[in-house]
Order: sequence, then structure tokens, then C-alpha cells
Amino acid sequence: MRNSNAFLRDEYNELVEKGFDWKIRVLEGPSAPLCNVDGKEVIMLCSNNYLNLSNHPRLISAAKKILDTHGAGSGSVRPIAGTMDVHIQVEKALAKFKGTEAALVYQTGFAANAGLVPQLVGKGDVIISDELNHGSIIDGVRLTKADRMVFGHNDMGECEKVLKEADKKGYRRILVVTDGVFSMDGDIAQMDKIVKLAEEVGAMTYVDDCHGEGVIGKEGRGIGAHYSIEGKIDVEMGTFSKGFGVVGGMIAGSQDLVNFAYNKSRTWLLSGSAPPATTAACKAAIEVLETEPEHVENLWNNVRHFKKGLDEIGFDTGNSETAITPVMVGESHKAKALSEALIQNGIFALPIVFPMVARDKARIRTMMNAGLTKEHLDTALDQFEKQGKKLKIV
Ligand SMILES: Cc1ncc(COP(=O)(O)O)c(C=O)c1O
Repeated sequence: MRNSNAFLRDEYNELVEKGFDWKIRVLEGPSAPLCNVDGKEVIMLCSNNYLNLSNHPRLISAAKKILDTHGAGSGSVRPIAGTMDVHIQVEKALAKFKGTEAALVYQTGFAANAGLVPQLVGKGDVIISDELNHGSIIDGVRLTKADRMVFGHNDMGECEKVLKEADKKGYRRILVVTDGVFSMDGDIAQMDKIVKLAEEVGAMTYVDDCHGEGVIGKEGRGIGAHYSIEGKIDVEMGTFSKGFGVVGGMIAGSQDLVNFAYNKSRTWLLSGSAPPATTAACKAAIEVLETEPEHVENLWNNVRHFKKGLDEIGFDTGNSETAITPVMVGESHKAKALSEALIQNGIFALPIVFPMVARDKARIRTMMNAGLTKEHLDTALDQFEKQGKKLKIV
């Protein structure tokens, strides 16, 4: 007789056995540089709240204020009755911030990728991806009827080869899609080169800048600003859940792109819009980035200090160029043991294991925060050294 539910426990147990399961930790209070997790005060090294904007008074006050005038929820999906004045205002502010003609916000970045990618290409088209693209892009790609081609991670020679091959095959449309800052390694896509190569064959370009916003480019304006190619990337996709300190997805580009996206993305059309408090906080985050450069400066000072410290201890930190610094361990149980030892000693840094990275590339992924002090960072480095030596990683 069939047991309809047995696989749930079996598969979970298998994950636990292999060390591939997630142990959920609970934050008691805000996501702050120094925070409480499972009853313990820890230095936060695994939040995407890069600029500590989730605790910025302007964001908190904007969210509180609009609750009195607009209520707790939007009441609908955007195209029916769920578009509020604040949604339009944040889209205008975002387009200005990104230097594009227009912008559109989604409920999440995941919803933007999963909803828009499958609309941009279809039968007779091809989508070309970097092999290390984020899961939300991969899911978006899986929803398309287009052919798929992959190039080696950040390998521009291979990207050119694949583009030429696609061009020769006479596809109707070619879409190149890549993470901007790669979420597991912290390196940056060579977007200037990708745009140039794509232009040669009339391909469209799409970048997921979730980890670049608030981090790279002048005033944290993202990958377009980083390479001085503002307005040249066809689709700049991103999130408010990381550097901006709130939650929400976004795309920036031409008015044609936005008109197309909001009429075609099912995740946008068929899912309730962001509550006004969330959107007001997102708008305040853009204003903070435009007027308070110190957050991005503090972030980068911290990034440099911490990376240098890890390198001096002898850790392998891969090819990171941003606020994401992996501490490579290799085997997943060992990465978990290092994380556990760090947490026990007041450092909240989590392991990343298969399937998020290759089986033998388990790591502790550290994420920097502008609100951490040099003392916090030195305490963290001291623990990385002690626990890393105990586990014979360095
Ligand atoms: C590269 C990348 N793209 C997309 C997302 C999804 O963004 P959101 O949190 O807004 O759904 C994430 C978040 O984990 C990400 O790291």
C-alpha cells in the first residue's frame, strides 16, 4: 500500500544525515549589528541589512506615519485596487536613483525574477545564463519555453562564444541574464563586457543586482553606476530586502520595459501588493542613500578591515570583491561545526552548504554591516582565528 506522506520524514532525515538541513535561528528583536539570537547576544555577520537601514529612524518613522493615513494593508493586487500613491512615488524615486526612464516594484525580488524572466523569452528564443545565477533566476528560466545555454562563471570568453552560437542559430530573441554580485561568492559580473557582447548580436541584458544595491557604484547606486553604464542594461532587477533594509522587488529600465512587465508578470498581476508601511520605508531608504553617503562609506571601511583580517589569519576567502566574504571550509559538517562554535562564542555567522553551493564548497558566508564597529570586527576575527585553528581549517 502506498504511504502518501512517508517521503516527508525520509527526505528530511536524509538531509540531516548529510548535513544539508537548515537549523532555524530566531532573532529576538531587530536585525542589528549586535543582536539577540536564541537568547544570546551575538555580533551579526549574516544579515543582508548591509547599511543597517532597517534600524534607521527615517525608515521607521516613514513606516509608522503612513499607517495612520493609509492603513495596514493595500487591500488588493496592484492592477485591481492595490496601487496606492506611495507605490507610484517609490517607483519614481527608484527610476531617478537608478538613472533610468522608469521603474516598477514587485512584492519581492524572487517574484520579480520568477514573474518577468519567463515573459521576456518564449518558443524560438534562447536564454543565456551564468552558471552560478541565483535560484530565483533559475526558477524563472524553468518557466520559459525558450532554449537554454549556460556559460562558465564570469567567463567572458565563453559568454562571447555562446552568444555567437546563439546568433548563428537565428533565434528570434536572445536574453543574457546574470547576477550582478554573486550571492555565495561576493564577486561581480563583468557587466560592461556583457553589455558590449550583447549589443553586437542584438541580445537583451538582464542583471540581478540584489547584492549590489546600496553596496557598489557611487552612493550605492548599483552595478550600472559601478561600471558607469547607467541606462545601458536593459533590465536592472533588484530588491529592497538587502541594502535598503526593508523588503520588496524592483526592476528599472525603459518605460517600454515597465509597461510590458506590469501587464505580463503573473507574480505582479496576481499577488497582493506591498503594504503601505513597507513601501513608505522603501522610499525613505532611497532618500537616505541619496543624502547620507556615510552608510556606504562605513560599510566599505568595515569590508576592507574584515577581509584583511581574515586573509592575515590564513583563511581562503575566494574571489570576493564586495560585502559578501565567504570563508571557505569545504566539507559541510565542518562548516557547520565552525558556525556552531562561532555562535557559541558570540559571532552569528552561518554555513552555506549544498545545494546552495557545490557539495565540496561549503563555507561560512559572512555579510558585512555598516553599523558594526572596529571592536566588533576584531572580536569576530579573534573568534574566527581561535575556532578555525581548533577545527584545523587554518
Ligand atoms: C541574487 C538574489 N536574487 C534574488 C533574491 C530574492 O530577493 P528577495 O529577498 O527580494 O525575494 C535574492 C535573495 O536572497 C538574491 O540573493
